[in-house]
Amino acid sequence: MSIVPISPLEYGRLRDAIRERFGIYFDDGKQFLLQSRLQSRLPKVRATTFEEYAQYLQASPDREREWDELACVLSNNETYFFRERAQLDVLASEVLDEALKSGGRLRVWSSACSTGEEPYTISMMLAETHRISPASLTINATDLSPRALEKAKTAFYRELSFRATPVEMVQRYFRPFEGGFFINDEIKRLVSFSRINLLDAAAVAAMGVHDAIFCRNVLIYFDKPTQKRVVEAFAKALRPGGYLFLGHAESIMRITDLYEPVVTPKAIYYRRK
Ligand SMILES: C[S@@+](CC[C@H](N)C(=O)[O-])C[C@H]1O[C@@H](n2cnc3c(N)ncnc32)[C@H](O)[C@@H]1O
Repeated sequence: MSIVPISPLEYGRLRDAIRERFGIYFDDGKQFLLQSRLQSRLPKVRATTFEEYAQYLQASPDREREWDELACVLSNNETYFFRERAQLDVLASEVLDEALKSGGRLRVWSSACSTGEEPYTISMMLAETHRISPASLTINATDLSPRALEKAKTAFYRELSFRATPVEMVQRYFRPFEGGFFINDEIKRLVSFSRINLLDAAAVAAMGVHDAIFCRNVLIYFDKPTQKRVVEAFAKALRPGGYLFLGHAESIMRITDLYEPVVTPKAIYYRRK
């Protein structure tokens, strides 16, 4: 297949449309990356140039279906069980303690859950504590990518997803099947999946109020104004004092004053003021 060239004008138009829709930002050095990710989409909508493709995204009656495809093609879905474990330990101790003291319900949201490893890890870690019943626990899990969510709901995983998983957790919570593993129903049942674009502030607020939100390893793909917009929308979906967990490479210290940073020797997180 020959490579379709992309002009600076076409690149600017497409990356602005993508940033506006999904928040994902391709800076000046990422032209080749965007070009290679979109390349295979052009023939699918019978576009021969990136200009035609940009027009299709803007004006075709079928454009929403193509945007759904883009949500899958553009996102980096890299994730694994027990990733950045120290924050999960904070959830299973401090956050759970507080919830049990004040009414006994715990509501957690994994807001860019990709293929499901993060919310299922939350589910396993809370099950391990034997301190909260399924009826008192809500674990919401959302993502932008329909394909990632399909995989999450299937709950079948191969070796790479287990790179940080203790062996006894695999033995306890998974069953082997044809070179991979299905997660057990008791863990799966605790997680509710749905599709949410984090730029949609109304949809974020409609998720209801949580004790903790995980938004890890997604803000790095957004520019600063979009990061601010997303974390400020989260303030409506968190109780006062609620916890916000971001990825290691992500910081909102100079972006918003709605949260108090908490820095411990093992984990950094934020609490809603
Ligand atoms: C690298 S994964 C992170 C998965 C998990 N949170 C972790 O830390 O392992 C990033 C995810 O963010 C999702 N994403 C990107 N833009 C998004 C948006 N605007 N709204 C919701 N999810 C988005 C992608 O689809 C992708 O699954």
